[in-house]
Amino acid sequence: MSDERVTFGSKLGVIFASVGSAVGLGNIWRFPYETGQNGGAAFLLLYVLCVVLVGLPVMMSEFFIGRHSRKNAAGAFDVLAPKTKWNFIGYNGVAAAFLILGFYSVVAGWTLEYFFQALTGSLTGKTAADYAADFSSFNSGIFWPIFWTTTFIALTHIIISVGVQKGIERSSKIMMPMLFLFMIILCVRSVTLPDAEIGLSFLFKPDFSKINSSTVLSAMGQAFFSLSVGMGCLITYSSYFGKDTNLQKTAITVTVLDTLVAVLAGVIIFPAVFSFGIAPTAGPELVFITLPNVFQNLPMSALWSSIFYLLLAIAALTSTISLHEVATAYVHEEHGFTRKRAAFIVSFGVLVLGVISSLSFGLLKEYTVFGLNFFDLLDYATAKIMLPFGGLLVSVFVGWRIDRKILKAELTNQGTASFYFFTIYAFLLKYIAPIAIGLIFINELGLFKLLK
Ligand code: TRP
Repeated sequence: MSDERVTFGSKLGVIFASVGSAVGLGNIWRFPYETGQNGGAAFLLLYVLCVVLVGLPVMMSEFFIGRHSRKNAAGAFDVLAPKTKWNFIGYNGVAAAFLILGFYSVVAGWTLEYFFQALTGSLTGKTAADYAADFSSFNSGIFWPIFWTTTFIALTHIIISVGVQKGIERSSKIMMPMLFLFMIILCVRSVTLPDAEIGLSFLFKPDFSKINSSTVLSAMGQAFFSLSVGMGCLITYSSYFGKDTNLQKTAITVTVLDTLVAVLAGVIIFPAVFSFGIAPTAGPELVFITLPNVFQNLPMSALWSSIFYLLLAIAALTSTISLHEVATAYVHEEHGFTRKRAAFIVSFGVLVLGVISSLSFGLLKEYTVFGLNFFDLLDYATAKIMLPFGGLLVSVFVGWRIDRKILKAELTNQGTASFYFFTIYAFLLKYIAPIAIGLIFINELGLFKLLK
């Protein structure tokens, strides 16, 4: 049975699909705004620590779970630990997929709006204040936010329905390197702006007085979000990997590229933020109100900016595909719906959430829970609670429950591939990851204060 499952076509396909999942709005939209709100360089440092010490080991473990079981995020645990409650990790992940798509599609919709604005030339010739005002008037509207969110969900739906191999592989192979190239160009433009060094020192010169418990939780949440770990996304993808895929190399490649793109985004955004007098704490709109100013200072700005927003939309698409796939594979394999029907069910659920959250900045602005609107609530619940919690469970499951020999055999392709640092990996997984995640949770929830 399991051999009938589709697999990714080539080695490069595996890497591009995983990088495609990891690199997206998390790097270019979420990372700069979280960094801006959390004080800059100190946040970046914590973020990198979380990526290396927690994110990477959890990613390798998700690869192990997926390829060893060759099942979807929930079904995998019924194979590896039958008749236990470990499949909760999968259910948590499937729920997270819906919730993340519910706000991610909204931001992906913003990139489409900006693509069209760039095409029609209405994204040039304005002041920094105009760009900020334009964004909020677009974003507080009703029709266009709903329209673009819906369009983006429809695009994701179509690719998912076409199938794993063709849809995902083809779209990631050409576009990711192009996006990278464009970012390098933007980077050069940004660091040569007047006062660029203020932005660079904000990003690279840590001020540790800015760290508190919520900064640490934000850094951890960002690490999970950006790497696509903690919700079975990479379990699902690695279930399509071939037997000769080098899991360790793939994980390291994905992690390095993902982090590189995030840092590059920071190097583009912060010099511009300070150069144009934008507040680094502007929040979710930061990238959208900053970049038009940078483009405006390039020759042929309409051309550059329209291609850039298109590439960004495609980077977002390769991420939404991976999120959608988690839920679709689950509904299809565990509940006996055809793949097409499963995809429909998922898209419909996401559409409902997406439409509501697209109105969070206008019509539904007043409806808040713990001071968060619907959009922010989805973001907080997933990135800062569900993903780290999923990651905690994965590290305990693979670190403590899985036989070390089985783990090593899978990660080394039955001894044919080398796995450097296996002992370090196992140590991080067994002790560091669960303890770090646990402490950060406890710290943020204020339990320490309670105990005192
Ligand atoms: N990592 C993607 C980004 O940075 C978003 C994403 C895709 C994701 N799949 C995920 C986040 C799974 C968390 C879990 O844009």
